[in-house]
Amino acid sequence: MKIVNSWNDFDPLKRVIVGRADNCCISPSEPASEAKVPLDSPMRGMTGPRPLDTVEKANAQLDNLAKVLEDHGVIVDRPEPLQFNQAVVTPFFMTGSQFGCMPPRDVLLTIGSDIICASMSFRSRFFEHYCYHKNLREYFEKDPEFRWFYGPRPQLSDESYDMHYWDDVDGHEVTEEILLERTANLEMVTKEHEILFDAADVMRLGKDLFIQKGLTTNWKAMEWLRRMYPDFRVHSLNFPGDPYPIHIDATFVPLRPGLIINNPHRRLPKEQRAIFEANDWEIVDAAMPAHEEPPELCYSSVWLSMNCLVLDHNTVIVEASETAQLEQMDKLGMNVIPVPFRDAYPFGGGLHCATADVYREGECQDYFPNQVEDPTLITYADKRW
Ligand code: GLY
Repeated sequence: MKIVNSWNDFDPLKRVIVGRADNCCISPSEPASEAKVPLDSPMRGMTGPRPLDTVEKANAQLDNLAKVLEDHGVIVDRPEPLQFNQAVVTPFFMTGSQFGCMPPRDVLLTIGSDIICASMSFRSRFFEHYCYHKNLREYFEKDPEFRWFYGPRPQLSDESYDMHYWDDVDGHEVTEEILLERTANLEMVTKEHEILFDAADVMRLGKDLFIQKGLTTNWKAMEWLRRMYPDFRVHSLNFPGDPYPIHIDATFVPLRPGLIINNPHRRLPKEQRAIFEANDWEIVDAAMPAHEEPPELCYSSVWLSMNCLVLDHNTVIVEASETAQLEQMDKLGMNVIPVPFRDAYPFGGGLHCATADVYREGECQDYFPNQVEDPTLITYADKRW
């Protein structure tokens, strides 16, 4: 029985994993995760299990999402939460607690009949893949074509990070302005010491993987994926304007073949558009978020407004309060299913983050047959590390 098959984010969705909020912790500060906590966030310095009432509210919205999906004929699998309030200790580092399993998209990368458990860049997320073992074992037992891979397990010692990234500059605290300059210059807290990636930095479009170079994914990971999939083209994208470039799915989101919405505060630079333009892909600005602030104790920005889940080329799930985004989807010809989800945001993101593809109908297609000079293309000869 075929269980695992997905080559993109828009073909008809038939099976998916939806995360859970149970036991989720605010992890202690560590070299990479400092980046995830905005400078002015009240979460700075807070650690430990999240308040139970917020867990219950988030789980109610996650369960409702699962039900909406089932009502649309999608099989829904759920992870097994760990006791995340336990330290992670390895020969190379230790950190006081783990994180959670609300966002399977961060951990699981589905490419055709393969699922790759990402290497992960945060120490607190080193063991998170275990939450999905039950699911992956089932797929392995029932689907003879399913291949279960791991990204190289990183050491995550201090050598993997710029340990001075968050230090004061000339006696002043790091400002957002400084961070914007750094990320535009591709200077990230994660270095190129070893292969590091989170699955949610990878946008899959058939034979092409477009990967964000940011705080959680480096070029060595792109080279590793290129070697894993020699028939594919792997591209490195970056989006100046984001002081915390973590995961591509609140920045650059495909809706159907030929159409992508792009965060207007984080536009893809002109030279990186060549491959899309040469193949008649339209990149349109996403609608403005409805909210000025993310919910309390949330790692992500207000741009979770565009972190939608596409069910097929004509149908998309959008967060229910995101009025402008709902309207834009309608204008773009999509049938829109509004689903309330803001209570789940603090646990790891939006509707796309909270899900991981298992099965979408369709095959691996080449959406970019016209090749042009493409500065985003990863090759060993042009290695940037
Ligand atoms: N990293 C996703 C966002 O908060 O915009």
